[in-house]
Amino acid sequence: MPEAVPRTITEAALAPLAPLAKFRGRHYLTDQDYTREELLELLQLAVKLKALWRDKTLTPFLPGRTLAMLFEHPSTRTRVSFEAGMTELGGHAQYLRPGEIHLPGRESIKDTSIVLSRLTSAIMARTAYHSSLVELARWAAVPVVNGLTDDYDHLIQSLTDALTIWETAGSFDGLKLAFLGKVSDAMASSVALTCSRLGIDVVMAGPADHQMAPEMQRLVRANGEQSGATLTLTDDPVEAVAGADFIYTVLWWWLEEGEEREELRRTYRPFQVNGKLWAQAKPGARFMDCLPAVRGEEATDEIMDGPMSLCFDQSENRKHLQKAVLLALIGSDRLPDDPDMQEIGRALLV
Ligand code: CP
Repeated sequence: MPEAVPRTITEAALAPLAPLAKFRGRHYLTDQDYTREELLELLQLAVKLKALWRDKTLTPFLPGRTLAMLFEHPSTRTRVSFEAGMTELGGHAQYLRPGEIHLPGRESIKDTSIVLSRLTSAIMARTAYHSSLVELARWAAVPVVNGLTDDYDHLIQSLTDALTIWETAGSFDGLKLAFLGKVSDAMASSVALTCSRLGIDVVMAGPADHQMAPEMQRLVRANGEQSGATLTLTDDPVEAVAGADFIYTVLWWWLEEGEEREELRRTYRPFQVNGKLWAQAKPGARFMDCLPAVRGEEATDEIMDGPMSLCFDQSENRKHLQKAVLLALIGSDRLPDDPDMQEIGRALLV
């Protein structure tokens, strides 16, 4: 890794930022499109922005800029964190719900993308299909940010999770993360992709007949060849949590009802994160869940509300990480007058 990229969170807070203009105008569809060094640079920018936020909520790097937010599916964290983040950056975010705009059906993704590009500075989209996001980005003249594609990934969440891990562990060196339960899910894929890019060993523990897709395994292992991270698949939750520094889980079911829901509950029940399983975990291990959760299903209250839980830090960090991504992708040509904002302002110019 080049010396300029900080390895620890302490270094990240103190070291000068790398030039950020190289991010300007790029899309953020999957973190496979960014090098490990670039991901670390975005994380460092998030660390700096979070420190600035502690002193002053408003840091108007993007006055007058608008973020269009397209949501095919509901959201609490993604919607509120992007909107609050744009407000704190001095800009504005617009919530656009299909059915209330001309998508779907009455206007094409192409035309929607061209129009939003004429009117706004960036587009964030949550779509059912990754192909819709790719189509949106194909025609966009402004950066497009992935806010979760149900059939592929949720990398803005998993890069946020990397920020939470960095804050908690201090560095990414020598860490192991165990993901329990729905390891075939988009969230599991994202966590595995991001962790493997950053050098964190990943253990995916799910039912033998519901393992991570082979194509995703191939990508994670390819990341590991670069970073040194390993990927282990298991159907044994106790084996998975042994020695893990972070234990992550996600919803087993959401909108499913009746027998379909019961089948999912039966399938994933052995992977519930509860006190009994936690007794097998490494002392000091931390619990992660991107939320929303169905309490008492994938994890019990004693875990979610316990001292091991990072799940609400993960939610807060969405805003700080996304401010970094938006700022880097939208960019700025103006050095702020406020001396406290000038380090970031200067990095954005070069
Ligand atoms: N984790 C997450 O993306 O939450 P929302 O669905 O509430 O946005």
